[in-house]
This record gives sequence, C-alpha cells and structure tokens, in this order.
Amino acid sequence: MAQFKPLVFSGVQPTGNLHLGNYLGAIVKFVELQKTHECIYCVVDMHAITVQQDPEQLRSSIREVTAAFIACGIDPKTHIVFNQSQVAEHAELAWVFNCVARMGWLNRMTQFKEKAGKDRENVSVGLFAYPALMAADILVYRATHVPVGEDQKQHLELSRDIAQKFNNDFAASIEKYGHGDAFFPLPEPLIQGPATRVMSLRDGTKKMSKSDPSDNSRLNLTDSADTIAQKVRKAKTDPEALPSEIAGLAGRPEVDNLTGIYAALVDRSKEDVLREFGGGNFSTFKNALVDLAVAKLGPIGDEMKKIASDNAYLDSVLVDGGNRARAIAAPNMKAVKDILGFIS
Ligand code: AMP
Ligand code: TRP
Repeated sequence: MAQFKPLVFSGVQPTGNLHLGNYLGAIVKFVELQKTHECIYCVVDMHAITVQQDPEQLRSSIREVTAAFIACGIDPKTHIVFNQSQVAEHAELAWVFNCVARMGWLNRMTQFKEKAGKDRENVSVGLFAYPALMAADILVYRATHVPVGEDQKQHLELSRDIAQKFNNDFAASIEKYGHGDAFFPLPEPLIQGPATRVMSLRDGTKKMSKSDPSDNSRLNLTDSADTIAQKVRKAKTDPEALPSEIAGLAGRPEVDNLTGIYAALVDRSKEDVLREFGGGNFSTFKNALVDLAVAKLGPIGDEMKKIASDNAYLDSVLVDGGNRARAIAAPNMKAVKDILGFIS
C-alpha cells in the first residue's frame, strides 16, 4: 500500500443538542489530535438534510456546532473548520461512490435500519446513500485517520471498502498518480478510551442521543451547572454499591456507563476509577461525578454562549475553512475525474 500523508478528518451533524456523547466520543479526540496531526473538522450539513430540517433551525445549528468546536478547544486557524455544503467536491465524489458502493453493502448498514424502522418506503434516498457521502467526506481529502464514536464503526468499514474497490477497479489508470497501486488511503477509525459509546442517563441500554425525547437522558454542552448537577443526581443506577473491579460492572449498564463517563472526563481508566470509589457509597461517587461534570462542561457551555452570539465571526470561520478545504479537495477531485475517464 502506498504511503499517504497523515491527515485527520471527522464530521458532526448540525442537528441541535450537542451532548456528552458527542463530546467524549468525538470532540475530545478532535482536540487532542490537533497536537500531532493536521486536522479537518466538518459540520456536515448535507448529512443533516437526509431527514427533514427547518432552514432557520439548520442555519443556527450549523453555527452552534461551530461554536462548540471552538469552545471545546479546536483552533480553526491552525486546522480547518467548515461546513460541508461549501465544498461541492463532497457531493461530486459522493456520486462517484454511489456508483462504486454495492446495494448489498448499504443494505447491511444497521444505522439505516434503525433510522428507517418500519417507514422504509418513505425515508429519503439520501438516508440510504448517506454512508457513500460519508466516505466521500473523508476521501476527498485522502484523509488517513477518522476519530468517531463507536456507532460510526460500520460506516467507516464501508468507507474502507469503497476506497479499496475504487483502487482495484481503476488500478490501471491510478498508476500515473504516483501512489503506486492506491489512489485513496484506507481510512483508519480512531475509536478508543472509556467512552466510545456513552449511554442514556435514564436507560443504560440506549445510546445517549440528540433525538431522545427526554432531555434528562443527556448532558447537553449548553446545560447550566444546576441542570448538569440535577441530571447527574437523577441518573438511573441500581441498589448495589459501586464494584471495585471491572468484572463487577457486568449486567449493570447504568453503573458501567457512569463509571466510563467519570473515567473519560478525568482522563483515567475505568479500573482506576473503580479502585478509588469501589465499595463506597453510590452517593459519594455521584457527588464526585457532579463536581467533575460541572467543572469540565460548565466552562464549555459558557464559552459556547459567548461565541454563539457572534454570527459574523462564526460565518467567517466557516468561509475561511471552506476555502482552505476546497484547495485540498479540488485537485483530488480533478484526479478522480481523470482516473474515471471524464474530460475536464
Ligand atoms: P452525530 O451527532 O451523530 O453527528 O455524531 C457526532 C460524533 O459523535 C460521531 O463521531 C459519533 O460517533 C459521536 N457520538 C454520538 N453519540 C455518541 C454517544 N452516545 N457516545 C459516543 N459517541 C457518540
Ligand atoms: N455520520 C457521522 C455521524 O452521524 C457524521 C459524519 C459525516 C462523519 N461524515 C463524516 C464522521 C466523516 C466522520 C467522518 O456521526
């Protein structure tokens, strides 16, 4: 396999209510990777319209995710922050990938099955084709590393399959691009740490999600300190004490979840956390979690609110990022067209 320059890409949908799952599963990693890699972070507005959106609400959600990125510590000057629809090459490459991906591959996507549910005949074609757009997001930059939460693993495997099939199908015309036998890298998912799948605070078997009707199920990045404290205190647990070892978390999804959240927020392992709090009173642990969550999330919410009122600044960040992203995407797309046999 050819050598590709390390480049990080990831995306977050602008669909409101950014929560602790987004933060611990994705954004914390985005921030960390800035130290070692060139990074592109994208507000994926074209993914958002796979389900119906209100235009004014969408506009404000795009700005809100941008504000969250910046408030969490992403530096849009050194790295790239932009909204997807500004760079037309995403849609252009997605079409090509619609023709590379097989129906059978997309039919296996569990997220589509969950989202479409019984309404399969009535959901948009975009919702079905979504993973091909996601592959295009990453590969239009020939990005090599993709930090995401656990729920995106299957989509990333599909991205790798698409890259591999494109490389195989067009091997002969790829050669002249100087990367040996591969035009696209096989992007590597980065899914690590104790909180790759943060669960609902009300039900440890359900993922924490933007769309859960119960606001108590999640900690939103914009929640006030009081709200955070209240939600953590109300979080579901069980009558047993906190175990001292990992094995004791088996069959106790809520306790496992809160342990993982604490560990991720304090950047320690779950083993470590159980060693400290195990055997003790559950309320002692919950109080410590309240303090920690307020200390970590409180300042982010405050900063988000500050930046969020400055639309001109946020829009200028997105436009500048879009211009820099396009400069990388355009030559790659031009090469793809040539590889395919298109004239441009
Ligand atoms: P989305 O809001 O669906 O665009 O997700 C943005 C990022 O957050 C993706 O990398 C997801 O995998 C991640 N994510 C969303 N929900 C969770 C969760 N409950 N736990 C961990 N990561 C999550
Ligand atoms: N599908 C991802 C989600 O729902 C968001 C996303 C779109 C993404 N394009 C991407 C993530 C490219 C990583 C890389 O969370």
